[in-house]
Amino acid sequence: MADYKYETHDYDVVVVGAGGAGLRATLGMAEQGLRTACVTKVFPTRSHTVAAQGGIAASLSNMGPDNWQWHMYDTVKGSDWLGDTDAMEYLAREAPKAVYELEHYGVPFSRTEEGKIYQRPFGGHTTEFGEGPPVQRTCAAADRTGHAILHTLYGQSLKEKAEFFIEYFALDLIITDGKCTGVVCWKLDDGTIHVFNAKMVVLATGGYGRAYFSATSAHTCTGDGGGMVARAGLPLQDMEFVQFHPTGIYGSGCLITEGARGEGGYLTNSEGERFMERYAPTYKDLASRDVVSRCITLEIREGRGVGEHKDHMFLNLQHLPPESLHERLPGISESAKIFAGVDVTREPIPILPTVHYNMGGIPTNYWGEVLNPTEETPDAVFPGLMAVGEAGCASVHGANRLGSNSLIDLVVFGRAAAIRAGEVIDRVAPIPPTNVAGVQKALDRFDRIRNANGSTSTAELRLEMQKTMQADAAVFRTDATLAEGMEKMKVIAAKMNDLKVTDRSLIWNSDLMETLELTNLMPNALATIVAAEARKESRGAHAHEDWPERDDANWRKHSLAWIEGNDVKLAYRPVHLDPLTTQEEGGIDLKKIAPKARVY
Ligand code: FUM
Repeated sequence: MADYKYETHDYDVVVVGAGGAGLRATLGMAEQGLRTACVTKVFPTRSHTVAAQGGIAASLSNMGPDNWQWHMYDTVKGSDWLGDTDAMEYLAREAPKAVYELEHYGVPFSRTEEGKIYQRPFGGHTTEFGEGPPVQRTCAAADRTGHAILHTLYGQSLKEKAEFFIEYFALDLIITDGKCTGVVCWKLDDGTIHVFNAKMVVLATGGYGRAYFSATSAHTCTGDGGGMVARAGLPLQDMEFVQFHPTGIYGSGCLITEGARGEGGYLTNSEGERFMERYAPTYKDLASRDVVSRCITLEIREGRGVGEHKDHMFLNLQHLPPESLHERLPGISESAKIFAGVDVTREPIPILPTVHYNMGGIPTNYWGEVLNPTEETPDAVFPGLMAVGEAGCASVHGANRLGSNSLIDLVVFGRAAAIRAGEVIDRVAPIPPTNVAGVQKALDRFDRIRNANGSTSTAELRLEMQKTMQADAAVFRTDATLAEGMEKMKVIAAKMNDLKVTDRSLIWNSDLMETLELTNLMPNALATIVAAEARKESRGAHAHEDWPERDDANWRKHSLAWIEGNDVKLAYRPVHLDPLTTQEEGGIDLKKIAPKARVY
């Protein structure tokens, strides 16, 4: 039995992660007077939300007509009819309120001439239920929107006396009698262990983009929440849906915002053709992301890629006025220079679809409460645990997320979790006492990993996983690539028992830290490939060449994946088809969001 001393901390709420969702939840909890701790493995303003560029979707109508029903329709269509109707209605309806709150908290949005929040077009956002022209719905702070939001929310959270535990790595959840009662953490700078007992734990740990070789995600995006949930015996949902952003910089994968196309940029192939006009005659370069990524991949396959190896495409901005590049897209102008050596006022940017977002994650309802579904009770709540942001799956993005619906998801559902916690937390009840056996279980696991003495290095195994996921769970998939990828991933996952950690110290030990992160990435990756292999249809980001059609009769359902060792057990739960409000109550006309062919 591992013998580690630990310090205990008691809070009403512990939020794990300090990105947009974690900070919005933290702020909302603290504002209500709940004693709130936010535990984060990186300094809050270095969380991956800082890299979000183009903006946050909300139907403010600052640039022309818009309303929440159009936003909801676009989200339903973007999700390829896999999103939950209640959650998508909640997102679209609450979005304007959530953005105005951000404005009042102090987010420095870009402004129109009249002083309103500036909004730009983004892919898949339209008017008139997809029948009208593109809408300008994406509220922007130049091309540094995530940065602006993160700094504002951190400042506001401090003002509300939320307590931050910075550079603490969450090891495992503490589960007591079928309820989450806290989390065990390792403090990276002094090696001490900390046990947080809480009435509510909120996982806001972000996505697992680093399960792939080339991703726009930060190196910190290692699916830590999903890993902890899987170890607690709870399922992950819709993991087969992984979004490729059309415009990662060729080579580095660094993001070039969709806002660049929103501001008038366009893609060309080796023949100088604006090929998106052929594939998506109405919305062209502003079709939904999964569509644009597939078109780029097809162009490359058919020999119309650019460059020496004809293996990428060009994004053209050089026709845009230099002053609008300077005002609206300063960040990507700089990134293009640094990462591609390109002056965007003169040359096109070489780009390639790059892993960007995980639609799947920890299943929740639209209040962020984590679900523990069974066949009889698919919406059963697991007490004491919430998940928000990219870590969670509410599910508003279904099989494909629209650009700028991520930032709005973070703040709408971070805020919703706080509202719900305010209702369900019994303020006078005592904080759960330390579950000594639960803590010991987490520490025994930590100690086993710390002393791992096999023959495979963490870096070697991580690379094997990343290359396999990149090759076999890609933009296009086939029965053969998925079956092969699944078998390879099972072999790779089995090598987790043969890891070697070379540094046994407890202080600033990046080898141990990366190994712990790999133990989180691996179940996320396994669930992804196994769920993808099982889904015999094409829907959103899951483009299956042997099953090219969407099959609503058999597959309009959420996948659930329980990970036990290297085995993944799959089941399915129904998509929520009922809205929050009926049409008589002011809700959407359900005929408008009935499934149909998804064309742009
Ligand atoms: O293209 C972008 O700026 C990314 C936005 C998003 O993923 O929502």
